[in-house]
Amino acid sequence: KITHVILTGGVGSRLWPLSRKSQPKQYLPLFEGKSLFEMTADRNSAVAEKLIVVGSRDNCHLSRSILENSGVQYLDIVEAVPRNTAAAIAFAAFASEPDDILIITPSDHVIDGESTYAQAISDAVEKARQGFIVTFGVHPTKPETGYGYIEHKGDEVVSFREKPNLVTAQDFIDRGNFLWNSGMFCFKASVLLEELKAYQPEVYEKSLIAWNAAQDGRLDEALSMDIPSISIDYAVMERSKKIKVVPAIFSWSDLGSFDSVYDYLKLKGHSVDDSGNMVIGNDNYTAFLGLENTIFVYTDTANLILHKEHSQEVKNVYNHLEKNK
Ligand code: GDD
Ligand code: MG
Repeated sequence: KITHVILTGGVGSRLWPLSRKSQPKQYLPLFEGKSLFEMTADRNSAVAEKLIVVGSRDNCHLSRSILENSGVQYLDIVEAVPRNTAAAIAFAAFASEPDDILIITPSDHVIDGESTYAQAISDAVEKARQGFIVTFGVHPTKPETGYGYIEHKGDEVVSFREKPNLVTAQDFIDRGNFLWNSGMFCFKASVLLEELKAYQPEVYEKSLIAWNAAQDGRLDEALSMDIPSISIDYAVMERSKKIKVVPAIFSWSDLGSFDSVYDYLKLKGHSVDDSGNMVIGNDNYTAFLGLENTIFVYTDTANLILHKEHSQEVKNVYNHLEKNK
């Protein structure tokens, strides 16, 4: 069966204060009343037969209310604590038949172009059936350090590098044969598990122990804490020899941090002054003096003013506030 797996564990801390622990960005009704989570589920219901949601104790009620409203059947996997994407994906694979084809997607990306999306997915499913782990490569437009980079020759992956530093990212862009990893994957459940077992046996073993003890898809906290926290990108994608890439010809935006939100809003005609300053969350006229590329984020209870280049550091503010709560 072709199964869509939504990863929705994150709080989107780099988008604080828009995104909160109680209302992560993927559930905010940002697009004509629809959330990114809902749009992700809709988009993939056209290409998959089954749905698995891997989320957290804190947000499973948000997923449930959206999916119940639209009458969608799904398997709910509820993590007691986030253990990163390697474990989250392993749970979905353990919950599937070995030959099931899983399409893993984040819950918080903006994708336009339904038919090109469906085409890319069907190419990926074909390769996944042959035993490959498929990534979706996006044409890079800047040396973003928050992404994975796929060095490729056609659909062959030469290497995969997660989150390079700025100098390396710039070098990748200059060399021209690198794509951004979109963060979506497609593979046979058994293939991913074999690779995880080969390259991160501890993650594999501990996730399996936790999964076997789960009650009704709900994971136990103590057993989960034993699982090393590592992303699938570092755990498998950087090391596996079975990776292929399908170009993402659909339009893709990861609204992961304020610089990508800025790019997206600018593209959609949101106002930016001559010095590249932007206000998010408030329609008041706002003057910026002596500032360039500054983003002012306004919410009812907290504001953030940042230089665009510091977008990746917003999570430090969030973590600091969480720690001192
Ligand atoms: N259930 C669950 N549990 N989901 C999780 C967990 C977890 O512990 N940790 C992260 N997720 C979800 C996030 O909510 C998000 O939807 C997705 O998994 C990816 O996690 P991020 O934390 O957003 O990863 P990233 O943005 O740093 O990097 C990934 O995405 C980039 C593109 O957006 C990587 O795959 C990069 O290579 C890629 O370029
Ligand atoms: Mg992300």
